[in-house]
Amino acid sequence: MGERLAGKIALVTGGGGGIGEATVRLFWEEQGRVAIVDNDTAAAGRVAQEVDPSGERVVVIGADLTKEDEAARAVRETVDRLGRLDVLANVAGVRVWGPITEATPESWEFIIGVNLLAVAYTSKFAVPEMVKNGGGSIVNVSSANAIVGRKNIAQFDATKNAVLALTRSMACDHAEQNIRVNAVCPGPTLTMYHVRRRAAAKGISLEQAEAEMRATRVGNLMKRHGEPREIAYSILFLACDESSYVTGATFMIDGGLSV
Ligand SMILES: NC(=O)c1ccc[n+]([C@@H]2O[C@H](COP(=O)([O-])OP(=O)(O)OC[C@H]3O[C@@H](n4cnc5c(N)ncnc54)[C@H](O)[C@@H]3O)[C@@H](O)[C@H]2O)c1
Repeated sequence: MGERLAGKIALVTGGGGGIGEATVRLFWEEQGRVAIVDNDTAAAGRVAQEVDPSGERVVVIGADLTKEDEAARAVRETVDRLGRLDVLANVAGVRVWGPITEATPESWEFIIGVNLLAVAYTSKFAVPEMVKNGGGSIVNVSSANAIVGRKNIAQFDATKNAVLALTRSMACDHAEQNIRVNAVCPGPTLTMYHVRRRAAAKGISLEQAEAEMRATRVGNLMKRHGEPREIAYSILFLACDESSYVTGATFMIDGGLSV
């Protein structure tokens, strides 16, 4: 436990599970105050209760961030309840599987809505709040497969590449306001989403599915999945003042997948 976020207020989207949950835990351990913004309020509530039962430094805000007015409300509520906004971690994301021949207008709307527009909407309202405090840090979670091709998940990979372009151009727009904007690109990471998916596909228990994932030799240099906390550490670095000379950067946290 350190003090890398002491005095800082952070909004973490998608904090109800996986990498977002690990980010909330790490931010809390580093003395930050955190608003978890998620459309799954039950999951976000469980995380808040586990991390900070007193409710003093972690609050939950339910919002569907694909809607601009809900993103605006989420930022406003964060400031109302915690006092200001210094850090925005855009972690929420969804997947659509299959080749482009199976894509539909609905599946495009769904994945662009969460993976791209929610990042843009939340950032739009976070920036003016950060300007009031003299600056801040935005960390967007993209994917190693934003730059490395693979089969069967083209729509997801396209949105994650768009997030990298958004990140770089936002960094250009807001550098003079002392707002840093960076992206993290996780490789395959052992989160409950993937465990549940494998368990359902193979008709096995969650425990078995997780054990299988741990035993899988993944196609990266380290031959394993990442842990959510290993991704969260990179988000923490970019969120706190240790990365004060870093903006517009793309951090590959992928066990060497992209080399
Ligand atoms: N897990 C991996 O292997 C991996 C790899 C590369 C990139 N990523 C990216 O990392 C991020 C987190 O991944 P994860 O596996 O921890 O995901 P996850 O599915 O466990 O969590 C995503 C969270 O986002 C929330 N969310 C979804 N739609 C929302 C909306 N409209 N409004 C608000 N919240 C919404 C969900 O409720 C959930 O709590 C995602 O952006 C994902 O694309 C993950």
